Amino acid sequence: MNPRVARIEGSLIREIAAKRRAGSIDLGLGEPSLRPNPAHLEAAMRYVVDHGIRYTVNAGDPQLRKRIAGHYGYPWLGAAENVCVTTGSQEATYVVIKTLLDPEKDELLVVEPAFPSYAKMAALEGVVVQSVAMRESDGFAYDPERILAAVGERTRAVVVCSPCNPTARVISRGAVARLADGLLRRGGEPVWVIHDEVYREQTYLDEAGYFAEVYPHTIVTNSVSKSNALTGLRLGWAMTPAELAPSIVKVHAWVTSCADTFAQQVALHIFEEPGYLREHAEWYGLQRSAVVDALRESGLHFIVPEGSFYACVRLPEGVGSLHAAHALADEREVIAIPGIAFGASFDAWLRLSWVAPVERVREGIARIADYCACSP
Ligand SMILES: Cc1ncc(COP(=O)(O)O)c(C=O)c1O
Repeated sequence: MNPRVARIEGSLIREIAAKRRAGSIDLGLGEPSLRPNPAHLEAAMRYVVDHGIRYTVNAGDPQLRKRIAGHYGYPWLGAAENVCVTTGSQEATYVVIKTLLDPEKDELLVVEPAFPSYAKMAALEGVVVQSVAMRESDGFAYDPERILAAVGERTRAVVVCSPCNPTARVISRGAVARLADGLLRRGGEPVWVIHDEVYREQTYLDEAGYFAEVYPHTIVTNSVSKSNALTGLRLGWAMTPAELAPSIVKVHAWVTSCADTFAQQVALHIFEEPGYLREHAEWYGLQRSAVVDALRESGLHFIVPEGSFYACVRLPEGVGSLHAAHALADEREVIAIPGIAFGASFDAWLRLSWVAPVERVREGIARIADYCACSP
């Protein structure tokens, strides 16, 4: 048995989510509740009925790769060759970490609070992870100077998730420019930025920043999971500059051969019309406004969501998030994710996913507010 595997715990998010009972209010898993647009699935079905479900080339259907690259139009990532189609963005991130980081000498810098998979995937590869926590007093806003100060001699890549899971903060254009500038000024071997854009279509801030627009050493990971309510389809991609692309495809080929052909056809249909990626965006915007109103009325201290479909609420002083999440699940039938799952710096917080019908979210928030008022 690989000792690295024995050392890694399973997902705390899944553990708490599994406490859900029939009547629970579920503010747990980060998964859209909408149904996907059947037109994408029907188009894929027509294709596979006519052509079968054969392997595609390792990097993915060339037309899909071209459409993805063309849709974003990032300066260093604009050709089909820059795109590797993967089994969700999760595989994309794993392949990127595996390709980019030498466990003998390189470190990954994770900006906390962070989606737990980055550190776990690096640990699976034996790569040392450093983390830099954003400040609670700033509402966990991305702080480029703080991130730059944490970049060390061994740092080969920084992973930034914006819109952020869990904080729902979005990195601004100005912050991206300052971080990119600081990294370029370092000289020497480049420090890569892995920008996880999986919540890109749930952005409520006009000034959102994108590293791939300004920083040549950017890798983008994304998928149709959150944008089109297709989490179970498992279709994502990594976009990498030309010098990395062949190595990314080589690793991806040995890990999964190629992404699911049916899923690639679904994505091909989504990228046929630029509007399809945003077909659920209006719903998220309305839902967000209703949730922000409910949070304001509750009296809870919360971070105003700038992106994604999460909202984070502050627990009373001295109440640990794991304890609170268990108590809420057991005694109040509300599933919320403990902040500790995203790093020690977030232990005073709970992450709520707000994709349930708005009355249910409102009721869940009211129960959490009541719990907080009675604790400790
Ligand atoms: C921040 C973040 N990145 C990546 C993923 C993985 O998504 P997928 O593999 O479905 O694209 C998730 C899923 O919850 C996520 O929250």
